[in-house]
Amino acid sequence: MEGVVVSAKKNGSTITVSVVSDGQGVYSFPANRLDVGHYALKIRAVGYDLVGVATVDVVENRVATVDLALRKTKNIAPQLTNTEWMLSVPGPDEQKANLLNCVGCHTLDRVVRSTHDANEFVDTIWRMVGYAQVSQPIKPQRRVEIPSWAGTPEQYRKLAEYLSTFNRSPGSKWGYPLKTLPRPTGRATRVIITEYGLPRPTIEPHDVIVDEHGMVWYSDFGEQFFGRLDPQTGKVTEWAVPELKPGYPTGMLDLEEDKDGQFWLGMMFQGAVARFDPKTEKFKIYSLPPELNDKVAQLDFVAVNYPVDGKVWADNAGHREILRLDLKTGRYETFEPIKQLPGYSIYGIAADSHNNLYFAEFQTNHIGRIDAKTGEVEFYETPTLHSRPRRVKMDPQDRLWIGEYQGNRIAMLDTKSGKFTEWPIPTPWSAPYDVAWDKNGELWTGSMMTDRVVRLDPKTSQIVEYLMPGETNIRRVFVDSSTTPVTFWTGNNHGAAIIKVEPLD
Ligand code: HEC
Repeated sequence: MEGVVVSAKKNGSTITVSVVSDGQGVYSFPANRLDVGHYALKIRAVGYDLVGVATVDVVENRVATVDLALRKTKNIAPQLTNTEWMLSVPGPDEQKANLLNCVGCHTLDRVVRSTHDANEFVDTIWRMVGYAQVSQPIKPQRRVEIPSWAGTPEQYRKLAEYLSTFNRSPGSKWGYPLKTLPRPTGRATRVIITEYGLPRPTIEPHDVIVDEHGMVWYSDFGEQFFGRLDPQTGKVTEWAVPELKPGYPTGMLDLEEDKDGQFWLGMMFQGAVARFDPKTEKFKIYSLPPELNDKVAQLDFVAVNYPVDGKVWADNAGHREILRLDLKTGRYETFEPIKQLPGYSIYGIAADSHNNLYFAEFQTNHIGRIDAKTGEVEFYETPTLHSRPRRVKMDPQDRLWIGEYQGNRIAMLDTKSGKFTEWPIPTPWSAPYDVAWDKNGELWTGSMMTDRVVRLDPKTSQIVEYLMPGETNIRRVFVDSSTTPVTFWTGNNHGAAIIKVEPLD
């Protein structure tokens, strides 16, 4: 069978290495990836289970061979990705799209497996609204106050009624066929995937970036830690980030490196921006002033092109506002670019070479711009309707790269001409979160839906989708172009692991 992901983990190690079987059904690990020891093997191929238990002893100077037998699974439901559930459940796409809001803290498995009727679902959804985004079922974290834009429980009745049409009736299975995506073929099998396990299951590596020394840094979305992985050894070092608002949800979202090699973090419900100096290993904290630091304050993103004018941009997701921090005075200014647009929200932000700010309007299809000098606000509409632009990044040529979460496309806004270019992702409901570009001009993305990393060559429109070895909740994506071929990095936000994807071509 082609496209079976085979993973090997050495006894006692935190590192798992995976490869994919080729057109002849052959898989192989390069000798330099598995040192001497006892390994457990596992597979991923939707619809199939491994027969028995597979282990192998790797010894010096000898090829170890293990033939793996697979059989059709008796229980396919737990193997489905979020995207496969989206393809399986009944209903028109506009209705299904609501489920894109249900994958931030857990998979759709919980939704389809439940037996709630519509009334019970209203209560369940309202309980979900009360959780901070940093939650996962092993560590729920309640909001101190539900923001007013969340509305009322009754506003979710239509969604609750829809959900109750495709979850399980008590004691029964699903009344519709479960659909699956094809296994990888061809180029998509030519890859090595390495997962570095982190020390606690509650660590959520939301943003993962690699510095110029090859060290891997991550923001912990669920806990007050900033972490570093040494990919040579798998060793993880953590620094405690001050807890500024006890009783509030903990965790950080955005991680950015500035021109001096210092790291910046959006401290979310702790109401601050943090800067970390890797030389002194000390944090400098820029807290919101008391008048802005209320119960719903939530500072997710930072844009750190401050050498231009001494200012750092951030957002306050709780109030759907943009903030600008003056590094000299520590004072925050507030901008309300979408105040007049009820129901709209702000997601990722990025600054251009003049430190003008661009932000993603996450409910419909806008990119906003705030002029650094005049404060003037302008909007651009993506060509795709309801694209829901999510994470954004600015490249050195002032081109803004955008993950269109509901548009199922990645996009680029040339900020000089105001023109958009969009590239569709072939697998439906891929819901790209973010985009990274590499030295060859290829684009990379991933998401919380398909467990696949997507590589797109805009010159040839060729697309390769690499299947990850297990459930992988992907947010920020990063490409290290210092290697040949390039190396892709991301966090598995709900799997407490950092993932390295090395294409072999
Ligand atoms: C902000 C985080 C978050 C989001 C977003 C979220 N959930 Fe949950 N969900 C949780 C947590 C935490 C649990 C486990 C604790 C619990 O059940 O309260 C959970 C459990 C569940 C369960 C199992 C428990 C039960 O009562 O049946 C269902 C069903 C569920 N969620 C449905 C949904 C649906 C539907 C959505 C989208 C409308 C959604 N969730 C979005 C955090 C979230």
